[in-house]
Parts: sequence; C-alpha cells; structure tokens
Amino acid sequence: MGKKLTDKVTWVGKIDWELKRFHGDELSTDVGSSYNAYLIKDEKTALIDTVWGPYDREFVARLKEEIDLKDIDYVIMQHNESDHSGALLELMREIPNVPIYCTKKGEGILRGLYHQDWNYVNVKTGDTLELGESTLTFVEASMLHWPDTMFTYMSGDNILFSNDGFGQHYASEMLFADVDNMPKVLSEAEKYYCNILNPFSVFVKKKLAEIKGMNLPLNMVAPSHGVVWRRPEDIDMIIELYEKWADNYQEDQVTIIYDTMWQSTRHMAQALAVGIERKCPGTTVRLMNASKDDKNDILVEVFKSKAILVGSPTINNGYSYAIAGILEMIKGLKFKNKKAAAFGSYGWSGEATKMISAHLEDAGFALVNEGIRVQWAPDDEATENVRAFGEEFAEAL
Ligand code: FEO
Repeated sequence: MGKKLTDKVTWVGKIDWELKRFHGDELSTDVGSSYNAYLIKDEKTALIDTVWGPYDREFVARLKEEIDLKDIDYVIMQHNESDHSGALLELMREIPNVPIYCTKKGEGILRGLYHQDWNYVNVKTGDTLELGESTLTFVEASMLHWPDTMFTYMSGDNILFSNDGFGQHYASEMLFADVDNMPKVLSEAEKYYCNILNPFSVFVKKKLAEIKGMNLPLNMVAPSHGVVWRRPEDIDMIIELYEKWADNYQEDQVTIIYDTMWQSTRHMAQALAVGIERKCPGTTVRLMNASKDDKNDILVEVFKSKAILVGSPTINNGYSYAIAGILEMIKGLKFKNKKAAAFGSYGWSGEATKMISAHLEDAGFALVNEGIRVQWAPDDEATENVRAFGEEFAEAL
C-alpha cells in the first residue's frame, strides 16, 4: 500500500533494501535506496515518476491497489534515467494514450531508451497544469544532474517534488526525515551530493537562487530517493547545506589517500599525518586506504578536505590499480579550490609520485610541491623527513 504525504498525495514508489551498487559499480549504496513515485489525486490525477525496471510489475500492481489506472490523467516524468523511468513500458502498456509531461530533452531520452511514440507533452519553466484545487508548476533543472531534469511544485499542499535533488540513497520504512533518522539521512544526503551532484555545483547554485527567488511556500521537499523533508527547520537546513556544498565546499581537513604493497607507503602516510598534526593540531586528518576503504566514502572525505595527499608505491612503472581508480573518480567529480601533493615508496624506477602529481593537476588540484619519495623502506631519518614534509604541507595550506 502507498503511504500518505497529505490527503491528496500518496507515495507509490519502491523501497529497494537490496541495492548495494548504483550506476553499475560507480556508487556504493550500503543502506539501499528507494525510487520514489507520487500519486496526486485531485479533480484530476497525476503520477509523478515511476521506479526502476526490475520492479516494474510490482510497481504497476501496487499502483492498481491505489487507483484504477484508467483514472490517471497525467504522467509527469521529471527525469528519465532508468531508475525513474524503468517502469514506464509496463505502465504505458495499460494506459498508452495518457499524456507524459516532461522536458523536451526528457522526451528525447525516453524515445532513445524505450523507442515508443507515446503522447509526449513538452514543458518548460513556468508551465502549469491545473489539477483542481492544486496546480502543478514545472521548473526546468537541467544538469541537476541530467539535461532533462525538472522539478515540479504543487500549490495548495506546497510540495516541491525535486527528483534527484535533495535525495539520499537510503532505504527506510520511514517516509519523512525526522529526529530519529536525521544523522543517517544527512550523511547519505552528503554522500549523494558529493558523488552525484558535485560536478554540477554551478547549476545547483543557480537553481537554488532561482527557486528561493520564487518565494514558494514549502511544506515539503519530496525527492526521488530516500525520505521526504517536512519539518520547516529540516527544509531550511537541507537547502542551506546545498548552498554550502555547491560553493567549493571544504572543512579544515586534510585527507591522505594511499595504497601500499609492503607497508612502506602506508608508513609514509602515517608519518605525513604526524607532521600535519604537529603543525596544525586543529586540522582533521583522515587516512584512507584506497584498496580497502569504500571508494565513495573516500570521495566524501576529499569533498570535505581543503587538501589531499595521494600516495602509491611504484609498480610496473606506474601507480597501483586502486590509486588509478580513485584518481579517475576524483577527476570526474570536478572538485574546486583544493590543494594536493603526491608521495610514495619505490625500489628502482620510482615514477609513481610524478605521475600522481600530473593526474592531480589535471584533475584541477593546485599542487603544493612536487611530492616526496622514499626508496625501499623508510628508516628513522626518512620517516622524520616525511613528517617534516607533512609539516611543510600543512603550513602551505
Ligand atoms: Fe535517480 Fe538520476 O536518477
């Protein structure tokens, strides 16, 4: 059965407790997720979004418990990535002539994914759809995080349906964010922002300013993943957090990411931490092992950092597989206004530090220096040198 947001609005989505990986293997979703779809029953009836394809039959069957499908007047597709549009084929088989409201880009994506000549109605910012007592107003939100994305504002109940914006990959029986789940909801919202929306922060900033400028009364912000923001203080908080996250976010933190073959590079990582703490005791220092820690958790630590140190032993004239992977992901997330340096141990050729430096620079990080290498295992003198390097690095921040 669906869950009531208001007298008119029912959640009809799917809680996916089993989801552990999203976007292929790009994003860990250790606490599952949900695909939120919303049914609005006014004088007219509108369905906002659907769910991922593997759950299409389940979705349609449960929707039938809420409504005779023939009574659905409009389908609103805010964003057509497969986790939201995946059940459309199954649904539209039963109601093939119902108009699908989406952006022009959204229509292109739906046609590209499903090859169907459905009854598309293209909408743009400011277009409205009268449902009776309530009106839907569409707000294009291109690149948050796909070109087709739009938000939908429902008057009367004053709900902003924000699709991926303000979402969290968080499976929960609870429909709303509340005191009990807030710490987990916030950490998942931050992980979501960092890993999905950070590359589009410029667009996020503009869209937040535009929405604030509309002075819409907001009783709820209902995303397409995770729980719904309802308490006024929570709505204010998540919008303020988005403003901060979108504005070259950083805390007083340095993250040291390393991989190690025989512990020498790990030893260097720990010595660097000692040096930073010696110079700046108030700075948070996080050590993350690229081959052991969750890659998306590492990225969140980078997101929070003002600077990072990345280290790998030299292997086969390059750096390790795990470091290569995390460097590529760091580059993709387009972090801004952060500093960096490289480090690593080596036996003979020793190219890794230079190559990591080049990759960090290419990813938009300002290099503090050319990095530090240690041949074979660091002895006491080398360890102290690495600590001193950590101090100099901290001082340069
Ligand atoms: Fe939740 Fe971009 O799909």
